[in-house]
Amino acid sequence: MSGSKKDIDQVSGYETTGHEWDGIKELNRPLPRWWVWIFYATIVWSIGYMIFMPAIPGLPGMAGATPGLRNHSERTNVAEALSAAEAARGPLFAKLAGASLGSVENDPELLQFALAAGRSAFGDNCATCHGSGAQGFKGYPNLNDDVWLWGGGLSDIKQTLLYGIRSGHPDTRQSDMPAFGRDGILSGAEIHAVVNHVLALSGQEADAAAAAGGRAIFAAQCASCHGEAGKGLREFGAPNLTDAEWLYGGDYETLRETVTNSRRGVMPYWADRLDEGTIDALAIYVHTLGGGEGS
Ligand code: HEC
Ligand code: HEC
Repeated sequence: MSGSKKDIDQVSGYETTGHEWDGIKELNRPLPRWWVWIFYATIVWSIGYMIFMPAIPGLPGMAGATPGLRNHSERTNVAEALSAAEAARGPLFAKLAGASLGSVENDPELLQFALAAGRSAFGDNCATCHGSGAQGFKGYPNLNDDVWLWGGGLSDIKQTLLYGIRSGHPDTRQSDMPAFGRDGILSGAEIHAVVNHVLALSGQEADAAAAAGGRAIFAAQCASCHGEAGKGLREFGAPNLTDAEWLYGGDYETLRETVTNSRRGVMPYWADRLDEGTIDALAIYVHTLGGGEGS
């Protein structure tokens, strides 16, 4: 319904655009002035932005976006920040690798650095098996407590980290509990007896007659690794069987399974995979988790 003559809306007094639907007319009202100015300002801003900052993505023949007069690049910023962090850490890592492990715990700055580096390396390499809080799982030892298979001194821990346990490394910690049932060393009845002896050793309810029979079997078959009194021997990584801490479990069924088939948990070695500074940081981190023993 356009016409050359202006159409004024009777009720509001405004001019209309001439559009009309079922008697409803569209008023022709200009945008508020403040809005228009802001709109123009954004156009001016965007032109300035395109001149100074990277803005136009990869034109043909160009490696990336236009660099802009400021030559700004987040990628360069990240690379610079990384190399700055590297440069800042370098001397501390060198100092750590050079320091004797025991002395690090007396140097607050180096200790703080080692703990931070150790915590992050633990999250990357160890948490999958030992848990993010090093709390452990069945078969994977808790590293927060003061129960140690192979020893909780700094140098013990470092050796475990360097060469692993049953890891296949030539210097690995190695000790293989026989699979007494599977390999036919003990009969089912003998296993029943020795398991009852272990239940009694750890202060649990046991079949007294069977346990008494198991005592001699224990002395003959188990004491060489676990000790006469069953308190464990670290040179064989053999756990204490008299406490309430179990790597696999202390109930009858689990004990029977352990004695029948043995376990032989594997801890990988890190000697060729992590640099010495990182291994030191990890040893210090694990040592300070709770159960660390003198170095
Ligand atoms: C693939 C699984 C796995 C990974 C990964 C792993 N561990 Fe272990 N770790 C084990 C197992 C299993 C044992 C127990 C072996 C045994 O039964 O003697 C163990 C034992 C240990 C022990 C000896 C505990 C003691 O009581 O003497 C320490 C210390 C240790 N791990 C630290 C670490 C650290 C630090 C890392 C990371 C660099 C790590 N582990 C990565 C599986 C793993
Ligand atoms: C050659 C050394 C050796 C001999 C002999 C040996 N053990 Fe072990 N035992 C170990 C080691 C090492 C472990 C650690 C677990 C592993 O193999 O990963 C272990 C673990 C265990 C565990 C698991 C404890 C836990 O915390 O879950 C039990 C139970 C056990 N032994 C009982 C016995 C009994 C009973 C005998 C004798 C019938 C015996 N062992 C003989 C070395 C030995």
